[in-house]
Amino acid sequence: MEQAIALSAAGLLAMAAFIPAARSRLQLSRAKHPSLRGHAHLAKRLAKLVPFYGFDDARFFDSDGVTADVAQQRRSGFERLTRLLQERAPHTIRVTEQIESGISDLQFTAAYRVPFQYSAYVKAHLKVGSLMLESAGVLLKDLDGNVAYDLTGSYGVNVFGYDFYKECIEAGAERVKHLGPLLGSYHPVIEDNVRRLKQISGLDEVSFHMSGTEAVMQAVTLARYHTGRSHVVSFCGAYHGWWDGVQPGVGNPRAVHDVYTLSEMDDATLRVLRHRTDIACVLVNPLQSLHPNRGASGDATLLGSDRLAHFDRHRYTAWLKELRAVCTARSIALVFDEVFVGFRIAYGGAQEFFGVRADLVTYGKTLGGGLPVGVVCGKARFMKRFRTDRPSDICFARGTFNSHPYVMAAMNEFLRRIDQPSIRSTYDAVEATWTARAEALNARLVREHLPVRVAHLTSIWTVLYATPSRYHWMFQYYLRGEGLALSWVGTGRLIFSHNYTDADFAAVAERFVVAARTMKADGWWSSPPLSNKSIRRQVLREMLASRLASIRRPALAPSPVERSDRTAPL
Ligand SMILES: Cc1ncc(COP(=O)(O)O)c(C=O)c1O
Repeated sequence: MEQAIALSAAGLLAMAAFIPAARSRLQLSRAKHPSLRGHAHLAKRLAKLVPFYGFDDARFFDSDGVTADVAQQRRSGFERLTRLLQERAPHTIRVTEQIESGISDLQFTAAYRVPFQYSAYVKAHLKVGSLMLESAGVLLKDLDGNVAYDLTGSYGVNVFGYDFYKECIEAGAERVKHLGPLLGSYHPVIEDNVRRLKQISGLDEVSFHMSGTEAVMQAVTLARYHTGRSHVVSFCGAYHGWWDGVQPGVGNPRAVHDVYTLSEMDDATLRVLRHRTDIACVLVNPLQSLHPNRGASGDATLLGSDRLAHFDRHRYTAWLKELRAVCTARSIALVFDEVFVGFRIAYGGAQEFFGVRADLVTYGKTLGGGLPVGVVCGKARFMKRFRTDRPSDICFARGTFNSHPYVMAAMNEFLRRIDQPSIRSTYDAVEATWTARAEALNARLVREHLPVRVAHLTSIWTVLYATPSRYHWMFQYYLRGEGLALSWVGTGRLIFSHNYTDADFAAVAERFVVAARTMKADGWWSSPPLSNKSIRRQVLREMLASRLASIRRPALAPSPVERSDRTAPL
């Protein structure tokens, strides 16, 4: 009897211990975004199952099941575009091809410009160059002397125009030339940088690094050190650089066990933050306000028209305020990763734009005045890397090139210039200017019955598609054909610099509309009735067929456009 009582007491105790753990686990599951991006392990497993298959000449133009007439229309348009791009830039394309096998990054970007089914055919025929010779104003010039309006924004570095950064680099180099590339000791120019960064960020201390990725690594490491907790919360779809410690899921071979990828703008996430005791910091990339819970958009994943984006300043501000409150209450470090949006959306970046203060802020890109940089600004209690009472308890961070004199000097030119009234005052109009431009372009696209729209966060734009089609990614080539320079993610990101005048923008808008008109006339949007769901089903069927074919024909050597030994991201 006594034994039975003791056993049931032990059972009850075990259950009492188990119930909170189970509740906490359930809370965590609920806070994950229902999409595959919210489930990193599953996404990785599924990605491994995606077989490579590609459309050859026979299937490339009618993979959505259009009539032979429309397929022929597309083929003629494709051939015209191929000739145009090739005849316009033969030298640029030739040199790009020559260097590609030696540059891993170029091989990757060239392979992932469009959905993988179309990639080999596009690469073989619709060639684009990856070299430029000059920049001036808002224009870029390639090796053949062609000029194009720059919509690449240099990955977001270019906020004020390339000439501005050339001046920062040149004037900065002049100021530190007598010290040269000495590292370890600082050039005195650093003092003014620190003073200005403290004032702009409203934070106590600054550390300098060589890239945004390193700045994020440092912020996360410091948060762990000071809280004594293990886990990082990042939001579904958010990019924080390429360190595998914050990028669980597809694209990251390391199994990451100390990151919770949670759903953004979601009460379930707040509940997790309120209850768990292992969270060191929450990483926010404010650019996600344009497409919460969705990844940075690129044309390689543009299967149908399911790219969604819409910026709602009011709702995102309310979300950040809630996050701020819960992080304060639970002593979790709130980290704003402003590597992209800092010094672009407002003088004081996202903190100023949304009126919410973070504990740690990372900057990079444009802050280097055109040179590579990463910066962390933070509250003193998070920035200190040692404890005076425990001398062996340190948080190690170095980096040979941190505070390089040339970078510090270019940064100082940048910070001093943007503080001048002539530039600083331009921030007042940033949101209104780019919203007016986006709205005007959208109104024109609607008037012309073109199935394309734009969404934006100030000068960071993405292209949306109003009707389902499997060929939206072709639009990037029509835009290039009209003399608009895009980065490898195509229409996923158009990044404008703020020196675009109304006349420059009008020229871009005109070319944008002409590109859409031409693409429509060439039949790419003349699909049979499709929905995003039916497109996904089509793709799934193709994948299954390709898998089955590879099982049936194991001994056959793979053809160039149908290689089952490769996998592609979802
Ligand atoms: C928000 C954000 N964080 C971090 C990074 C990484 O910066 P970097 O490419 O300089 O390492 C980026 C780069 O795009 C970014 O957008």
